[in-house]
Amino acid sequence: MIPPTRRYHITTFGCQMNKADSERMAGILETMGFEWSDSPDQADLVLYNTCSIRDNAEQKVYSYLGKQAIRKRSQPGLMLVVAGCVAQQEGEALLRRVPELDLVMGPQHANRLQDLLEQVFAGNQVAATDAVHIMEDITKPRRDSSVTAWVNVIYGCNERCTYCVVPGVRGVEQSRTPAAIRAEMEELGRQGYREVTLLGQNIDAYGRDLPGSTADGRHLHTLTDLLYFVHDVPGIERIRFATSHPRYFTERLIRACAELPKVCEHFHIPFQSGDNDVLKAMSRGYTHEKYRRIIDTVRQYVPDASLSADAIVGFPGETEAQFQNTLTLVEDIGFDLLNTAAYSPRPGTPAALWQNQLAEDVKGDRLQRLNHLVSIQAAERSQRYQGRVEEVLVETQNPKDSTQVMGRTRGNRLTYFPGQLNDLKGQLVPIKITTVRAFSLTGERVHRETPLLAATSL
Ligand code: SAH
Ligand code: SF4
Ligand code: F3S
Repeated sequence: MIPPTRRYHITTFGCQMNKADSERMAGILETMGFEWSDSPDQADLVLYNTCSIRDNAEQKVYSYLGKQAIRKRSQPGLMLVVAGCVAQQEGEALLRRVPELDLVMGPQHANRLQDLLEQVFAGNQVAATDAVHIMEDITKPRRDSSVTAWVNVIYGCNERCTYCVVPGVRGVEQSRTPAAIRAEMEELGRQGYREVTLLGQNIDAYGRDLPGSTADGRHLHTLTDLLYFVHDVPGIERIRFATSHPRYFTERLIRACAELPKVCEHFHIPFQSGDNDVLKAMSRGYTHEKYRRIIDTVRQYVPDASLSADAIVGFPGETEAQFQNTLTLVEDIGFDLLNTAAYSPRPGTPAALWQNQLAEDVKGDRLQRLNHLVSIQAAERSQRYQGRVEEVLVETQNPKDSTQVMGRTRGNRLTYFPGQLNDLKGQLVPIKITTVRAFSLTGERVHRETPLLAATSL
């Protein structure tokens, strides 16, 4: 008898790292014979890949999980898995809180999913949250896109920002070797991918844990060296990287970005706060002056660079005047995009225990004021695209208009234009921008005159 098809569903919360992990776990499940189900309620295995960066992200998981736990009472064959950062943070406690769970696994165990599930099939309830050396990825990820792909280059984080759970849940930095990264990119190039985003929590700290240094004591493997090393991978036309920490963002790296044509003119460098005392309390290890110098250098080498960042408002003890310093920094720099968040006290982090927490309404008010400034600025920054011709890499259909396709400019602006996905997917198309909005653009194809082509075809 042919066994019935087993179906799986993954819901992913959180950052690009989690998205990349989910694609690898989906790949593992498919090699094991599982088939994708859009709906968690139709699936035999439901995996939540969780995020604990802020409390609301964590609470969402518990509500989703509650529903599946109820379903399991009438469907005992249902397998429930919690992966990612909440799994790592809560560990065994999660099994006690939701006893219906079969498997709780931290992010460092993503590549071991098959092995862990086999233990579950053998009748065990499993919690895999010990710190491990991350297994080199040998599976074929099931990637969401066939045009753009994530490639992990460094896992974990060695910083100790006083608000942040990431070092606790993702462990210490582990860099992949340049050879493994290049091999993955070459395979992507062969499969027809055109754009790669290199991933790490602090990607510019890449290589510090790899052996080898130059005579002057510099690490042999830095992100800069890596960019030069992978730049000529055939088929890959665009390279991006995220997230960068201001502490490691060197002039050498900026120069490489300017020199290497495939590296896109987009810099995502979180600053978190524009106030030096707050930055110090956050243990960020730089001043707002240093951050401004980095941006100046970026603009000196890449004048039209698109800039984005992350910022937190309402950190414990932040005064109105200190918050104003964040507004001033944002006003001075002019970001194309800013991810903003109200400070959320997190378990196991130092700042959560401080007495000088701010009231929710103060945090909410500051968040609103910052977001308002950001949207005005982003709209202003968008103006520079009006009438310009931008190279757009076509990824999908416009979900709201089937006569249009959607892609991104090198500066990472979402761009829509009339066209059919079948003809255009994966192509780099010159687009004349006709409408600008704060965070997206609309344009039309520029039909280049082709006298040379006409001549040769005669
Ligand atoms: N490694 C990156 C960011 C990782 S976390 C860096 O250092 O910049 C992604 C973002 O979540 C952070 O940049 C920060 O803005 C936000 N964040 C992290 N912890 C937070 C907390 N406790 N409350 C609110 N926002 C937080
Ligand atoms: Fe968190 Fe700081 Fe590490 Fe970024 S650098 S992941 S904010 S601890
Ligand atoms: Fe969230 Fe973990 Fe990423 S906490 S932001 S999913 S590293």
